Amino acid sequence: MPGGLPVKSTYLNKISEYKGQEVQIKGWIYNKRSSGKIHFLLIRDGTGIIQSVAVKGEIPDNEFEMCDKATQESSIIASGIVREDNRAPGGYELSLKHIEIVQISQPYPITPKEHGIAFLMDNRHLWIRSKRQYAVLKIRAEVINALRDFFNSKGFILIDAPVLTPSSCEGTTTLFETDYFGKKAYLTQSGQLYNEATCMAFGKVYCFGPSFRAEKSKTRRHITEFWQIEPEIAYADLNDIIDYAENSVVYTVERVLENCRNELDILERETKPLENVKSPFPRKTYSEAVEILKSQGEKFEWGQDFGAPQETVISRTFDKPVHVTHFPTQVKPFYMKKAPEDEKLALGVDVLAPEGYGEIIGGGQREDNPEILEKRLNDEKLPRQAFQWYIDLRKYGSVPHSGFGLGIERTVTWLCGLHHIRESIPFPRLLDRIYP
Ligand code: 4AD
Ligand code: MG
Repeated sequence: MPGGLPVKSTYLNKISEYKGQEVQIKGWIYNKRSSGKIHFLLIRDGTGIIQSVAVKGEIPDNEFEMCDKATQESSIIASGIVREDNRAPGGYELSLKHIEIVQISQPYPITPKEHGIAFLMDNRHLWIRSKRQYAVLKIRAEVINALRDFFNSKGFILIDAPVLTPSSCEGTTTLFETDYFGKKAYLTQSGQLYNEATCMAFGKVYCFGPSFRAEKSKTRRHITEFWQIEPEIAYADLNDIIDYAENSVVYTVERVLENCRNELDILERETKPLENVKSPFPRKTYSEAVEILKSQGEKFEWGQDFGAPQETVISRTFDKPVHVTHFPTQVKPFYMKKAPEDEKLALGVDVLAPEGYGEIIGGGQREDNPEILEKRLNDEKLPRQAFQWYIDLRKYGSVPHSGFGLGIERTVTWLCGLHHIRESIPFPRLLDRIYP
């Protein structure tokens, strides 16, 4: 300010530190209401939203007139006195002294009225500025931070897996193929196979990155590009990783409840069911889960894989996540170890989230015997050449090992109570959508 002390610049999530003082904020107009001599501007800055009041006579006349012209999403730099106000959303209000317009926004396509989902998805690059989308993506960031903190604090080493791969991990029907200098390559479906190599070098590892699946069906649970955090542990069996899976979920839910109350409020997410996510989770075998289905009148044959409808029924039976183990080998991939007591069963685990949300984690114990693994690769007609390195791992000091993958978007969808997975990732890739 001419002659006076320079006004401190701040972000809205720090506004409470400036009660009674004049501060400067840089942001955008979220909404506006005017009545002749007074403008109420809702200003957002990426960290929060504040109601700001411009009163004629209290700010320079030309700036007051600018407020008239300022449209939704116009970018502005404003300064004003921070006032505590219990009635204001967020608890503070800004009495404006100055406002400078950086750009008057063109008529903004997303207005406070209702819009159809196709329109919102076409405008995803703008939609993420809206309160609900903002809340979901803040929670997503907390989920990722919590999971990384969890594995880092338990002595896991982050080792990245490649995105371009010469082979499949989770079946050949969902591979995205690409040309790699005249050879075929595929976008990774999972970092698991590489984790199996790195855990033999580092003991406990995890990778975190995108996975790709050419899912050809439209569902509320599938996207073609999703993110997984995948831990893998040498000298660990199925029970060991069930414990890690459970503890990582409990910790993540705690962190979201602790740090994202405001976001859960915006989403009107009921928190009771989340507060219930405490150890121990129920553990059921696949066969027991099939009995649950039958007892609820579902038609289901032992040996089929669970789809979304079955997972929904099973997960509604419990008020916590549930571990389902010991699946029929034919529904699980080639790498999964068979149960020593029954060759028809695979030592795998799926964690199903409650409230009907279904699978958020898939994992298990890996086949560690080179001969059995070679046979399984043959049975599945997978190209031996591309898996030579993977078989090698079983020749040089092979040990029991296990791991899992937790799907970030499935977890965020559940924690936020969303209807569809498309809102859980900044720019969703779906069967019929790669724009924007
Ligand atoms: O159960 P999946 O296919 O298991 C694996 O990929 C293992 N190789 C992981 C491992 O053991 N390291 O996938 C793991 C998780 C699922 O439980 C689900 O949460 C998520 O990844 N997921 C998807 N999320 C969104 N869209 C899709 N199309 C998904 N496919 C799997
Ligand atoms: Mg799975």
